[in-house]
Amino acid sequence: MSYVLEHPGEFERLERQSALPAYDYQRELEGIEVKDGACILDAGCGSGIVSRYLAGRFPRSRIIACDYSAPILREARERAKDVHNLSFEEKNLFELDFEDSQFDLIVSRFVLHHQSCERQERIISELVRVLKPAGKLIIIDVDGIILNLYPQTFSVKQGLKKLAATDEVDLFVGRKLPHLFSNAGLASISWAIETTEFRGAEKKSEIGQMRERFANASAFFERVIGSAQEWERFREDYLECLADPHSVSFFNKFIVSAIKR
Ligand SMILES: C[S@@+](CC[C@H](N)C(=O)[O-])C[C@H]1O[C@@H](n2cnc3c(N)ncnc32)[C@H](O)[C@@H]1O
Repeated sequence: MSYVLEHPGEFERLERQSALPAYDYQRELEGIEVKDGACILDAGCGSGIVSRYLAGRFPRSRIIACDYSAPILREARERAKDVHNLSFEEKNLFELDFEDSQFDLIVSRFVLHHQSCERQERIISELVRVLKPAGKLIIIDVDGIILNLYPQTFSVKQGLKKLAATDEVDLFVGRKLPHLFSNAGLASISWAIETTEFRGAEKKSEIGQMRERFANASAFFERVIGSAQEWERFREDYLECLADPHSVSFFNKFIVSAIKR
């Protein structure tokens, strides 16, 4: 299964997304520390915006960024060509071909909601396998994104029901992470939940993001929503509901960390 947002515009969308206050990766990662010489994995790096940040923040560490999308990796490599301690590798997190116990820190952000439940378990077990004993795993992901919008038209309500039911994405993965970590045998599991609400200027930016997500993943949405006409109706209604100054739109961001025994 490939990334539902695979599209020539996706690299720049991800860069723009992470520049927005609602998706502030620097704040999400502000508490992390590593020792000199640490080996860090950014699992599902996308455009590499978090990888570049980690490389700059920990100049004496080696950062490996991996993703299964070859086109996005090409652009990520080009954007980071002057970053000496960062390299990119094409890998599927479902079957990583790294040796066991290689990394001191693994960060994976906004990746697991693109997997079915079984794949989430498998990916976490792969990440734990390649983490060193006493190494740290941090997963950041969303809960309720796209789905938490009120009021809704009938077509939006129907479409969101289908989106919540498909196993191509899991828009409620955030709440499942502590349990998944526990099942994977991790210790010292802790988490923070940040509510991200879109109002005023932030809502305007989120409307821009939703337009781009809809454009980049239109084949996926059409498949899930049912037909070209239903999808078009859903997309127009959704953007209209979101633009209503009194509509409520929010998601919860889960930042979950744990240590390998
Ligand atoms: C929403 S983007 C997030 C990118 C980046 N982590 C960020 O925070 O901006 C999700 C990324 O995960 C990648 N991805 C999804 N499933 C994957 C898998 N099974 N193996 C490797 N990469 C995967 C996609 O190709 C995409 O680049």
